[in-house]
Amino acid sequence: MAKVIIEQLYKIYPGIKGQPGKVAVSDANFAIEDNEFMVLVGPSGCGKTTTLRMVAGLEEISRGAIYIDGKKINDVPPKDRDIAMVFQNYALYPHMTVADNMAFGLKLRGFPKAQIQQRVREAAHILGFLEPDNLLDRKPKALSGGQRQRVALGRAIVRNPKVFLFDEPLSNLDAKMRVEMRREITRLHQRLSNTMIYVTHDQVEAMTMADRIVVMKDGVVQQVAEPLTLFNEPANLFVAGFIGSPPINLIRGAITQDAGRLRFTEKTAVSGVTASGFILDDAQAKKLQPYLGKEVIWGIRPEYIDVADTDTSGGFTARIDLVELMGSESYVHCTVGGQAIVVRTGSAHLRHREGQAITVVPNQKYSLFFDPASELLIK
Ligand SMILES: Nc1ncnc2c1ncn2[C@@H]1O[C@H](COP(=O)(O)OP(=O)(O)OP(=O)(O)O)[C@@H](O)[C@H]1O
Ligand SMILES: [Mg+2]
Repeated sequence: MAKVIIEQLYKIYPGIKGQPGKVAVSDANFAIEDNEFMVLVGPSGCGKTTTLRMVAGLEEISRGAIYIDGKKINDVPPKDRDIAMVFQNYALYPHMTVADNMAFGLKLRGFPKAQIQQRVREAAHILGFLEPDNLLDRKPKALSGGQRQRVALGRAIVRNPKVFLFDEPLSNLDAKMRVEMRREITRLHQRLSNTMIYVTHDQVEAMTMADRIVVMKDGVVQQVAEPLTLFNEPANLFVAGFIGSPPINLIRGAITQDAGRLRFTEKTAVSGVTASGFILDDAQAKKLQPYLGKEVIWGIRPEYIDVADTDTSGGFTARIDLVELMGSESYVHCTVGGQAIVVRTGSAHLRHREGQAITVVPNQKYSLFFDPASELLIK
């Protein structure tokens, strides 16, 4: 059992030589439930590692509190927090065997020999170190990158901690190995069902592994939600743009009126081009009524746009600039007025050619509108 609560948490690194201090984490508030796999994601420098290190006790808390199972741990030394951390640079001891590398932490803590052996055996079994080859007596240099990473996981598993912390543990691996290890860690979580906090800057890793995701930017938590909620209901422009690949299309325009109905009209950057747009359905119109006559940013993901062969109601004209063939699908890059959009289609649309005019039909249900001033999702 381990629930972690992060409450009004701040980290301010002191400035050096009269420089102002750096606010690395600012007023973070969220909880990680017992057995939950929580991923912290965000661009480089947004404060992910700092947050994790405060949970681990490796970094002093400037303000606020962290609780594990209701107990405030601000002043509890790292070794007494019942936490195991797996780092990006896992640094195994090169002169020790796999078994000894895994046992080392338990030896330091004075565990009895029989218990150490049993825990190492169990971890070795979970991580596949016994079959097809027994790796326990090998030294790290005789292991592949993925196997070494697994030993680093093993060191954490034998500790059987309340909470596992991972800081970008897969970023040293090649793409294929990363995908394999991703699944392995997910399986590990299903099997051990400990509470896990996992840091990555890779949104795909976050989306595929997480129960819930914390999106951070410049030390500030932007949204805490399940992966699909982040995808379909991002709280603001930053989250919308950070999650999803190819990224969401963001098109500037305004809410106008057309024969008594509300319409989104694209604000074309090219003079002489007719402004494109579409009539809003009832649900969207209700939501956007207060924005009549005002500017908004329309967000639509590439997968929520269809290409129609004929002029369809609800669609508008776009010109194809480039078609990227991915094999199983294509990304059709087009221009709407003066603004670029990407449409993701199945391979049935391979016949599209550059320069061609097409009708694109957005799925209104998944159309998002943002306030350009606050950058927040209009709900
Ligand atoms: N010891 C330190 N002293 C001063 N500033 C620091 C210190 N450690 C980190 N920072 C700053 O705090 C901010 C957050 O750093 P942090 O390492 O938490 O980012 P991150 O989200 O883990 O980034 P990355 O994805 O690159 O690992 C950065 O601007 C960083 O430069
Ligand atoms: Mg980091």
